[in-house]
Amino acid sequence: MMAVQFETSETFVSVERGEVDRKIFSDQEIFDREMEHIFGRAWLFLCHESQLKKAGDFFEAPMGRDNVLVVRQKDGSLKALLNTCTHRGNAVCRAEEGNTKNFMCTYHGWTFNLAGDLVGVPGLEELYHGDLDPSKHGLREVAQLDTYNGFVFATMDAEAPSLHDYLGDTGRIGINLIAAQGDMEIIPGIQKFIIPCNWKFAVDNLFDWYHPLVTHISAFQSGALPMPPRDQEGKLIDGGGATTPDGDALEWEGGSAGGELVDSIVCIDHYGHAIAGPARGNGVGLADDSWRDTPEAQEALGPVGVEIAGHPNIFPTAWIAASTQLSLRIPLSPTETEIWWFSFVDKNATPEVRAMFVGMANHIFGPAGILEQEDGENWAQSTVQTHGVESRKVPQLLKMNLGRGEVIKDDQGPARIYGAVSEHAHLWTYAAWDQWMSGCSWDELRDRTTPPDVL
Ligand code: FES
Ligand code: FE
Repeated sequence: MMAVQFETSETFVSVERGEVDRKIFSDQEIFDREMEHIFGRAWLFLCHESQLKKAGDFFEAPMGRDNVLVVRQKDGSLKALLNTCTHRGNAVCRAEEGNTKNFMCTYHGWTFNLAGDLVGVPGLEELYHGDLDPSKHGLREVAQLDTYNGFVFATMDAEAPSLHDYLGDTGRIGINLIAAQGDMEIIPGIQKFIIPCNWKFAVDNLFDWYHPLVTHISAFQSGALPMPPRDQEGKLIDGGGATTPDGDALEWEGGSAGGELVDSIVCIDHYGHAIAGPARGNGVGLADDSWRDTPEAQEALGPVGVEIAGHPNIFPTAWIAASTQLSLRIPLSPTETEIWWFSFVDKNATPEVRAMFVGMANHIFGPAGILEQEDGENWAQSTVQTHGVESRKVPQLLKMNLGRGEVIKDDQGPARIYGAVSEHAHLWTYAAWDQWMSGCSWDELRDRTTPPDVL
């Protein structure tokens, strides 16, 4: 069997052993490096164009620990400006979104126009005596801003590749799983809440199809989620971890594929993008997905993309969930993560369909969502346990189906692995994370995150 081909630092992540050093989940120095090497360079999702319809519309979005104001300009273009006053650093805007003619700092009154130019300084002549040149003190802009099918991204790195190249097949499929459904817009109201966990636990869990029937058993038992189908002998048809009939032990119940999640697809791509989960028609889509049969959707998604019903993550933190929502896992500190949920709906949807999407957004994920409350408990406890001197020495294991994933590479879609439930996408994300943290060049990063032949 051919070994994994790309280099690893072997510092925190061993792809060969499927192990991750737990130090990376609570160490302040590592967090600071993440802010510089990952969030200071990557293309990060900011918002959707439907949130910024007219001149002066703005939306505040995080880029690592920086906050930027995405602003619709008078000429229709978009700018993203650092929300920090060039006088003494106060935020120039306290609102999360809205419409304005300018941004006036509430400390001393410096005022910036929609383009970030400094257009008002109280006492400019009387107090600064002509020594302050306002043209040198406009709000700082991101290095690059671009959109893909209405999704707005920016990077702080002028050297970063184009957004199109950064997203690659996997990132574009992720976005098109929402965009190709129709004339999509954001449902007003972004859900925002904080979970006391490291951001990477919240990211790797989105690939995890091993935990639902254990972590989320109450969601199944309460009827919030449909119970998985079983065969005549009571075995799960698609496989899953579940309690035994007497409820005192846990076991893996194999289904028609002998313990495999039938038709599972894992995609792995440059820069650490990944997708994991079942194929279309294999048990997860909660909504009608006949839109996938339109020529437009088939064109946008490609033959592989149209079959994907699992979860794409655009590295580092943009998760497309169930083709109806996008979630950001925003790092606040090594042990705090803010979660944002953007929910989408077709502008032309009936009130009933819109209400169904709003209901799903409130009851599945989000602060009141049954799944995220259950997940959050695991992530918080996994984070807390990394503080222990001895606990920290126990590596994180991502060994499931390790070395058994044959990677298919062709022109039908992203590099991908078919078959059983695995921890391939989690491991791929950490392998890429390790390379980002090395601070290597963009060319080296792309090279080192080329999918191997076997994972
Ligand atoms: Fe903004 Fe002084 S800090 S005007
Ligand atoms: Fe979960």
